[in-house]
Amino acid sequence: MTTHRVVQITDCHLFADPAQALRGIVTWPRFVAVLEDVRQQVPDADLLVITGDTAHDEARATYEAVREALTDWTGRVRIIPGNHDNRADLRELFPTAQDGPAGRVTFSETWDEWQVIGLDSQRPGELAGSLGDEQLEWLQSCLRATAQLPTLLFLHHSPIPVQSPWLDRIGLQDAAAFERILRDHLHVRLICCGHVHQEVVGSLGGAATFTTPAVGPPFRPRTEQLEIDSAPPGYRVLELQADGRWSTQVLRAASQSALPGS
Ligand SMILES: [Fe+2]
Repeated sequence: MTTHRVVQITDCHLFADPAQALRGIVTWPRFVAVLEDVRQQVPDADLLVITGDTAHDEARATYEAVREALTDWTGRVRIIPGNHDNRADLRELFPTAQDGPAGRVTFSETWDEWQVIGLDSQRPGELAGSLGDEQLEWLQSCLRATAQLPTLLFLHHSPIPVQSPWLDRIGLQDAAAFERILRDHLHVRLICCGHVHQEVVGSLGGAATFTTPAVGPPFRPRTEQLEIDSAPPGYRVLELQADGRWSTQVLRAASQSALPGS
């Protein structure tokens, strides 16, 4: 009986210049602190999944620095794009980023007891996202081929509302079509995403659905407009058991959540 551990980190919003701040938050020290915490808390994780908005400046030099910082995770890193990402650089610099349907960057991992699929919800040049018909068809065929195998999905954009209107406007635009597929494939047990820079728990089509705190600037929950929160950087740990049971929790790295003036 094997228990698989998967770590999700998301929304790092890094720059080529490690001193550059986004909305008053210098993001590189938060990324370094999270990686350090992951190394201490879950050094034996099977996968480290990075769910988008990795390079805020979408610069190749930023991805190269990220790859360098993850040297000890080589082979275990999986990465999918967010709205701030460059697909070409992801494919080139992270060999596990697969060519998915319609030019998307996806991944899939199948173990005896679980499968993990990463989806690409980027709409280039837009804040909102969608999976698109071709990718949804591809997902459907993956799920048909693996009926009964407990499945964990990752994507950047949230398919569930988070009660902040400005974020809900830029969520997953084809969540209804996604949900219809989930209802036909109840072996999808879990969905994890990013984009909203805060932790939210819900469900979609029978699957428990989680958003994960950002490594970069945290957003205050339930706001009309963007407001920066004071939360430290966080990440998610998932434990997937051989009998299909699972558990998950958000961990926080003790560090630099420097707000302007603090
Ligand atoms: Fe983000």
